[in-house]
Amino acid sequence: MRIAFFDTKPYDKLFFEHYGEQYGVQFKFFDTKLTLDTADLARGFDGVCVFVNDTVDAPVIDRLQSLGITTLALRCAGFNNVDMKHAFGRLHVLRVPAYSPYAVAEHAIALLLTSVRRIHKAYIRSKDFNFSLTGLTGFDLHGKTVGVVGTGKIGRVFINICRGFGMKILAYDKYPAPDLAKDDTVRYVPIDTLLRESDIISLHCPLTEETYHMIDASALEQCKKGMVLINTSRGALVDAEALLAGIKSRKVGAACLDVYEEESDLFFEDNSGHILEDDTLARLISMPNVIVTSHQAFLTEDALRSIAETTVRNLVDFARLGQSPNELCYRAGSTSDCRDGKCFS
Ligand code: NAI
Repeated sequence: MRIAFFDTKPYDKLFFEHYGEQYGVQFKFFDTKLTLDTADLARGFDGVCVFVNDTVDAPVIDRLQSLGITTLALRCAGFNNVDMKHAFGRLHVLRVPAYSPYAVAEHAIALLLTSVRRIHKAYIRSKDFNFSLTGLTGFDLHGKTVGVVGTGKIGRVFINICRGFGMKILAYDKYPAPDLAKDDTVRYVPIDTLLRESDIISLHCPLTEETYHMIDASALEQCKKGMVLINTSRGALVDAEALLAGIKSRKVGAACLDVYEEESDLFFEDNSGHILEDDTLARLISMPNVIVTSHQAFLTEDALRSIAETTVRNLVDFARLGQSPNELCYRAGSTSDCRDGKCFS
């Protein structure tokens, strides 16, 4: 089986080559992202493998279909970059529903600790032998209230870590988990209550039409002054302009962002020699209380290994059996996860 692999980075190759060899899948690695302009590179291949910032909209799906491609393997969990409605009946979409929720939850915590203890400032000062502590005062996480939006695989790991810090935990989920609902250490509340009462808010729900800009100006208005926002989920959950305004007005105490609404042309690439055209991102990055990482939360060896193995097995299983538990909503009963409003069967 030959697969066209888009948006390749050096760290992808290691594990995909390893598992490809093991399971008899041959990858052709393209540096470029999948777009309408690059879709023709998939000609002659048995399938296509993409990541979070590849474009799989209706025109791209039509082009892939015209090339005879029937299988699209996402090497990620989120699928907001795929027009699932249009893919229905045209492409089998496979994904990696879980690889390492620990990788993402731990990164969220790394950002939080960095921010509230000013590690990003202290690191640079020490490098310059500036050992002054002025301006580095942080606050304890112990006793603070954290609001977790989305209590799925990553949200749960995040909650567990927060428990260890002795934090009070509020949660909001469209589909609350029965076991967590019975847990004394977690309180499911309406989103408005979570916004109003949380010192720290961490987003772990998928990006859907419903969750688009869930943190906007009116949501921020309801928040506590000085609230810390963590987004390791998808950029468009947050209205970046509103966030910037919230930081300028001091309503938002700090923001920890691993994802950004307009990240697709910037993140994963070295733009250090270029003028950044995105004024909102540039202004956010310039703020002392904003930490931005470039969609890095998944990037651990454990996660990369797991992503590669599951993606390769998805492709092999699908080729052999014509079905996979990791197929997304292609036809009735073919998916184990239709809860995100994305089931079109
Ligand atoms: P999951 O599917 O296990 O959990 C998502 C949770 O969100 C579910 O409990 C679901 O009921 C809930 N949810 C769905 N719609 C909602 C709504 N409208 N409001 C509130 N909650 C809602 O997914 P998992 O694995 O925990 O991943 C969460 C998100 O993290 C993914 O959708 C993806 O966007 C993001 N992610 C980011 C990565 C990164 O490197 N920064 C890596 C992997 C995932």
